[in-house]
Amino acid sequence: MTRTIDWTDGAVELIDQTQLPHHEVVLRIEEVPPLVDAISRLAVRGAPALGVAGAFGVVLAAQNHDPVSARADFDAAVASVRGARPTAVNLARGVDLALARVDDGVEAVLAAALELRDDEITASWSMSAYGADLVTELAGRPVRAMTICNTGGLAAVERGTALGVIQELHERGDLTEALPLETRPLLQGGRLSTWELARMGAPHRLVVDSAAPFLLSLGRADVVLVGADRIARDGTTANKIGTFSLALAARHAGVPFVVVAPESTVDPATGSGDEIEIEDRGPTEVVHVQGVAIAPPDTEAINPAFDLTAPELITAVVTDRRVVRFDRGESLASIPPGERRAPSRV
Ligand code: MRU
Repeated sequence: MTRTIDWTDGAVELIDQTQLPHHEVVLRIEEVPPLVDAISRLAVRGAPALGVAGAFGVVLAAQNHDPVSARADFDAAVASVRGARPTAVNLARGVDLALARVDDGVEAVLAAALELRDDEITASWSMSAYGADLVTELAGRPVRAMTICNTGGLAAVERGTALGVIQELHERGDLTEALPLETRPLLQGGRLSTWELARMGAPHRLVVDSAAPFLLSLGRADVVLVGADRIARDGTTANKIGTFSLALAARHAGVPFVVVAPESTVDPATGSGDEIEIEDRGPTEVVHVQGVAIAPPDTEAINPAFDLTAPELITAVVTDRRVVRFDRGESLASIPPGERRAPSRV
């Protein structure tokens, strides 16, 4: 299985990302509750992949509860998918896209979900190319690229957002090394980005989260590339916790800070960061590392899964349809989405 999530013979199949890098386990999911569970415990994660999971979730809901004769059960199932995680706008958007076709029957809902899957794949390839061009313009070549969380094919069905740009740079021969941050507490960088970078054969060294500002101040990275879970109209970007610190450090060091995300992550309905719900995942995953307690029993913890970075700290936002240079005074409103760039693989 090369796609992180797909639809196969009437069911969702997804790579259980909680098991990586040690075990490559594919989950086959035929009902809504196990899909909601997979989303909640981050077996499937990353904004674009969550969008596709949301759309497939509506298909499962429609298969299991007839939207005409069992409407209340169908609505409850759909609501449980939609509410499984709050921050990435893609999840709700994926649900809504599929739901819009429900009156046309299950096959139409499935067609909408498959269209979203294909759309996200195409978007990944387009933004990888736009992003790599921009990195060369901003930082020259070859580059050392720092990144946080996991934003590769695992997070985006195929290819990825920020890690997709890093892969494109590597394939062009323009990557000196990638510097993924571990990304406490769930270690998406340490477990998943390292796994993806190794598979693509890209040179990389894993960085402790708290070392990032120091390394940037020493000039050890030429660019910082991050993904996004939601981008508000004013450009404020919600992304994995630690992104804001990275943006502050990049600004202090004079290093370009670039957000890479598909248009599906830009949310016109959200005006600013105040309107974005930040998921708090509770204390357990902070006071345990991979199931082992590291603090005394009953230790309380604060565990926001995401933070907000203001547009002033962002050099540019790259999507599959535009490059918006905040550093040049451009905004999401002043640069409307244009054409997608043809994938470099075809
Ligand atoms: O909690 P996660 O692992 O779902 O968080 C993912 C991120 O923050 C990613 O940076 C974001 O979704 C972009 S993924 C292409």
